[in-house]
Amino acid sequence: MSPITERTLPLPRDGEVPASPAGPVLVLGHTGLLGQALVRVAERRGHRAIGISSRTVPGLNLARQSDLAPFLDRLAPSLVVNAAALTDLAACEADMSAAHEVNARLPGLLAEWGRRRGTPWVQVSTDHYWCDIENVRHDERAPLSPPNTYARTKRAGEELARKDPGCLVLRTNIVGFRGRAGVPTFVEWALAALASGQPFDTYTDVWASSIEVHQFADALFDLVAMGATGLVNVASRDSVSKADFVAALAEAGGYDTALAHRVPRPRRRRPRRANAMGLDVARAEALLGRALPTLPEVIDAIVASPAMPMPSVQIAPAAGLDLEIDTAA
Ligand SMILES: NC(=O)c1ccc[n+]([C@@H]2O[C@H](COP(=O)([O-])OP(=O)(O)OC[C@H]3O[C@@H](n4cnc5c(N)ncnc54)[C@H](OP(=O)(O)O)[C@@H]3O)[C@@H](O)[C@H]2O)c1
Repeated sequence: MSPITERTLPLPRDGEVPASPAGPVLVLGHTGLLGQALVRVAERRGHRAIGISSRTVPGLNLARQSDLAPFLDRLAPSLVVNAAALTDLAACEADMSAAHEVNARLPGLLAEWGRRRGTPWVQVSTDHYWCDIENVRHDERAPLSPPNTYARTKRAGEELARKDPGCLVLRTNIVGFRGRAGVPTFVEWALAALASGQPFDTYTDVWASSIEVHQFADALFDLVAMGATGLVNVASRDSVSKADFVAALAEAGGYDTALAHRVPRPRRRRPRRANAMGLDVARAEALLGRALPTLPEVIDAIVASPAMPMPSVQIAPAAGLDLEIDTAA
């Protein structure tokens, strides 16, 4: 097996509690939007972070028992965070079995392993469960109506993960910078569209409680530190339309807000997509003893990111990009 990447920070920042020296924090899917932030935040908190993905461990199939359990046993982590997923809606429809392997089977295997080892672990889930005509914030007990293969496999992943009572399952909607050419995140797409100087559409009837990825990662590690388990929504306390989100981002970033045209989402798109993805975060806030970020706080975190481009910089929007591939996930 090829060597895995391992990065360490020798010292925690002032005021932060050092992690248990017992074992590293494993981040599955560390090359993704969230995985990159998880590794950064883990290191900032003084954890030893090891990132795992098919790019860093060629030949490792995370969804195969014979690979996974011995691999995890050998690393003896103190925590595993599963941020690996097939998030592209079209790819999930095109290869349902691949979607099931990583989105459902992998958390099932992690639950078996977690139960056997007693090691805490986190399954990152989604908000892609609801279609509605209004902006609704769903708590953890809201009935789910997954509209497509991505959502169905993520729901199955939640159910399998929860077979381990020690698992923490977090539903969310994350925004930020992934920095991978050709597959921009929603924020990267919106900033590229704004920088292009051309008018573009933003949807007034697609709502989400998007949280900046590092804000999400901080809340995740706080919840783990307090021993939280079960299903918890971790997101912004504000659920807003994609149109309002882009308007706030444009304004804070110094772009021309008039470029973003506010329109309803076109009907009959395939695969069918969720649109009312708001999450009620009361449970997370009660556990954490603090408020989760508001929309302005999420936007501030994005604009403060080192990856935030200057308004004068022209970014080439990806040709033919399907806006909703990312907004939907
Ligand atoms: N982005 C959103 O808007 C959003 C919204 C709600 C929930 N979520 C959830 O948040 C989590 C993270 O999403 P993200 O946006 O960070 O995803 P992402 O950017 O697409 O990254 C996915 C990660 O999973 C890895 N991966 C995919 N298939 C794999 C496989 N078969 N074996 C091993 N690794 C595999 C990828 O590795 P490679 O780099 O090697 O491909 C990558 O590191 C997911 O659980 C997703 O469902 C995301």
